[in-house]
Amino acid sequence: MSDNRFPAFTMRPVTPEDLPTIRALHARAFGPGRFARTAYRIREGTDEISRHCRVCLIDGSIAAAVRFTPVEIGGQGGALLLGPLAVEPAFANRGYGRGLVVRALDEAGKDGIALVLLVGDEPYYGKLGFQRVPRGRMALPGPVDYDRLLAVELKPGALAATSGDVRAVR
Ligand SMILES: CC(C)(COP(=O)(O)OP(=O)(O)OC[C@H]1O[C@@H](n2cnc3c(N)ncnc32)[C@H](O)[C@@H]1OP(=O)(O)O)[C@@H](O)C(=O)NCCC(=O)NCCS
Repeated sequence: MSDNRFPAFTMRPVTPEDLPTIRALHARAFGPGRFARTAYRIREGTDEISRHCRVCLIDGSIAAAVRFTPVEIGGQGGALLLGPLAVEPAFANRGYGRGLVVRALDEAGKDGIALVLLVGDEPYYGKLGFQRVPRGRMALPGPVDYDRLLAVELKPGALAATSGDVRAVR
């Protein structure tokens, strides 16, 4: 796939054999304290791999990984929670994080996903099409900075049509 917003790389679904490498990547990218984040609360008890999780390979090695957890919003499926996204520090700021998100979202949309949420930095994810979820529209378990609750529509109109409690699909 060619897209001038990011460099070319191989992307494939995550396999169970990738998990030790991905966990080590998270430890390097995020450091301690990562388990306290709200996005982790909602993911508690869910499978570490969903069909939408992807890795970015450079020279055959994992250089970045993104996890997607299926969620229901107001009892309605067809949505994912993005995170964590982590890029190997040696490959940071070269477009791989952006590229992995864009390509993984493209595949999720083709797989029928209508809406993808995350709790993260609007300056970064806004460039990838994410927008703030209007306050009061959705509720996540645990304390959340709702200014950081972002969503991207993979089906036009999906955000306006969705509201309620967000919970992981187990
Ligand atoms: C944050 C992270 C995923 C970005 O991926 P990346 O491949 O390094 O970044 P990209 O090359 O896609 O994008 C780089 C651009 O985003 C900007 N950027 C990076 N992190 C940002 C942030 N938190 N907020 C705003 N902009 C950010 C960079 O300044 C750069 O801007 P430029 O294009 O104008 O130069 C990666 O650096 C990482 O894994 N960091 C540690 C883990 C983390 O904080 N993850 C957050 C998501 S849960």
